[in-house]
Amino acid sequence: MGLNCAIDGPSGAGKSTIAKTLAQKLGFVYVDTGALYRSIGYYAVSNGADTSSAAEILPLLSEISVELKYVDGSQRVILNGEDVSDLIRTPEISMAASNVSAIPDVREFLLNLQRDIADKNDIIMDGRDIGTVILPSAEVKVFMTASAEERARRRYDELKAKGQDVVYDDILRDINQRDYNDSHRETAPLRKADDAVELDTTSMTIDEVVEKIELLITDAQKKESVPFKTIPAFRRWFYAVLRFIVWIGFSVVFNLKYEGTENLPDHGSVILAGNHRTWFDPILIAIRVKYISSYMAKAELFDHFPLNVIIRAVHGFPTRRNSADVSALTRAENMIRNGYNLTIFPEGTRSKDGKIGRAKSGVAFIASKCAVPVYPVGISFKSRLHFRSKITVRFGKPIMPDELKINSMSKTDFRAAGELIMSNIAALVDSDV
Ligand code: DC
Repeated sequence: MGLNCAIDGPSGAGKSTIAKTLAQKLGFVYVDTGALYRSIGYYAVSNGADTSSAAEILPLLSEISVELKYVDGSQRVILNGEDVSDLIRTPEISMAASNVSAIPDVREFLLNLQRDIADKNDIIMDGRDIGTVILPSAEVKVFMTASAEERARRRYDELKAKGQDVVYDDILRDINQRDYNDSHRETAPLRKADDAVELDTTSMTIDEVVEKIELLITDAQKKESVPFKTIPAFRRWFYAVLRFIVWIGFSVVFNLKYEGTENLPDHGSVILAGNHRTWFDPILIAIRVKYISSYMAKAELFDHFPLNVIIRAVHGFPTRRNSADVSALTRAENMIRNGYNLTIFPEGTRSKDGKIGRAKSGVAFIASKCAVPVYPVGISFKSRLHFRSKITVRFGKPIMPDELKINSMSKTDFRAAGELIMSNIAALVDSDV
């Protein structure tokens, strides 16, 4: 079974544009279920049937065979062997689709087709009842809305661009009518699933919406593929207790301020990348991240007892500086694949004056090799630390693997990705430190 992402919402909320972009970006199959209802509406209209009469529509169902095909990644609807993908995009067929979709037998007729596709592929499926009826256990559910006026404007622009002669007020009226039909019908009315994330896209750009859902999907993928829970329970407990004790200790000694905690990862297997100021930076970060992290520590530290034992106990492993330490990179990769985070300081060495330096290529290499997000962290404090000094630790939005744009695993790509990561970190560091 693949990963299922259900996007429901009223007409014109931007579902199909977003779902298409996401599917292309993530290599998922995009399933536009509205096209299925449209093809039935189209067949009914072509046969002169009254689309709001169940009695007239039911006999037609036995004459209909609908299939979805994918040509160069784009969905085509095949109705009785004919590709009707373009013919079903008129306002008349929109209304016919809304009418026939209220008939329970029509919904039943299309149910298995939708479930079968979802069963076999990683899919992004948009519609009205995907999260509630078709795929109630979809890993990601989004309910996308926008004001009726904004949706009418988008539809108007879209149809105009296709050369159709349309009037804005007619579209707005149709949208209001379809909203009413779709949410007041008895069978599978349009409604948000209890566990769906609601997104009002009225004043969001396409990129913003894509980014938001992409994050939900990558989070779900991580939860599925490398469950944090595969880490033995005693390690998780030991870590939780240790983290709590250290938290109290550090909160007594310093005046700790954590910001951007809404950006914290909610699963393991991510990279946390921070600027490097003190020997206890890994602790400052770990205090607020529930999921266990591993660390790269300079090889010299492992020469001293008991430091070596302590570092190993908190999942530190040695890395030789100033060389591409292949075994450390492999170790980091394995830790991530086994559900641990990796906390890393891309500059390699500590910055005494607080200035942000350049990243070594390790962080970009691991992020792209493991295809995991990088969560930037900024650590700020003024001059020398003393008892009760204020330390601010700021968490930023994750940088997704594709944003790093590493296509060739070349030095140039790693350098550019490293710069991107460092600039995200720099944006989280106070300018006066
Ligand atoms: O998403 P769309 O505008 O192409 O959908 C056309 C009609 O089909 C819409 O008015 C409601 C109906 N529909 C539905 O009832 N359930 C779905 N899963 C998808 C669409």
